[in-house]
Amino acid sequence: MTQIKNIGLFTSGGDAPGMNAAIRAVVRSAYYYGIEVTGIRRGYEGMINGELFSMDRKSVANIIQRGGTILKTARSEQFRTPEGRKLAYDQLKRHGIDALVAIGGDGTFTGARIFGNEFDIPVIGLPGTIDNDLAGTDFTIGYDTAINTVIDAVDKIRDTAESHDRVFIIEVMGRDSGLIALRTGIASGAEAIVIPETETNIGALCERLEKGRKDKLSKIVMVAEGDDAGGAFEIGRQVKERFPHYDTRVSILGHIQRGGRPSCMDRVLASRMGVAAVEALRDGHRNEMIGIIHNEITYTPFEHACKHVEEINPNLLKIVEILSI
Ligand code: F6P
Repeated sequence: MTQIKNIGLFTSGGDAPGMNAAIRAVVRSAYYYGIEVTGIRRGYEGMINGELFSMDRKSVANIIQRGGTILKTARSEQFRTPEGRKLAYDQLKRHGIDALVAIGGDGTFTGARIFGNEFDIPVIGLPGTIDNDLAGTDFTIGYDTAINTVIDAVDKIRDTAESHDRVFIIEVMGRDSGLIALRTGIASGAEAIVIPETETNIGALCERLEKGRKDKLSKIVMVAEGDDAGGAFEIGRQVKERFPHYDTRVSILGHIQRGGRPSCMDRVLASRMGVAAVEALRDGHRNEMIGIIHNEITYTPFEHACKHVEEINPNLLKIVEILSI
């Protein structure tokens, strides 16, 4: 058992629904184990600037259902430099912080890995990103809510697409990952899915659109923003060029995907992971990300969690092909 007295807690990078539930779980379980928590606002940037404050169990009341992060979030250029990290460490020491819990994605854990190697302070990560693009967990906090937000939006777009017999090219988030596009494409009955993990062939996509037109004129094409073909606007331009007689529209869902009340699944995931983070620090874990794989808590070193290259399940792609005829 490691004697931890004061945990510094922060969120960093893109926000994700369920981060507040994770903050609540860390603060409440630390209280349960007699450990103090210091909240750090605006991630690494706030750590450097000394935006630190004491949290108690009441400071996380009534937040489990709220999207965003009460700790705010930021991306920090200063923290990329050794001088910036030293300033951050000095702030932690000044406030008596002897361990950190970082909630975020790969950028957050890259920073945590470097910091944890440079200074003698244990860091535990919680995966908070809508992209679900980290190794070492089946799901990240925020992904479930985001994909439900997407299918809600696409269902609405489908109503108007159907009424006007239009082709809709819909772009969803995922700079490096097609996981949002793939799942939501299946769940919303898209005719085609375009993702960075597979090479995009516009010719084949157009053939697919044309083939099904005798039965149905309205179509949904789901595009991940990081796709190699250049995103929904570029795909839409090429489809319009090839088929000027189609009534084609492009819709970018954007940051709506990052907000909103977390789903039940994200709240439970965040609660389980938050408790596990505090217990991991007590058990002497350091420089690892908490995950849940096959319903079991797991610990993955930061360097491995960040090296995630998703192998898209070919069965899921096949499902799109079979079901969209
Ligand atoms: O949260 C991850 C993510 O949604 C990426 O898929 C996307 O590229 C990025 O955030 C955009 O974030 P921002 O607008 O905050 O830079």
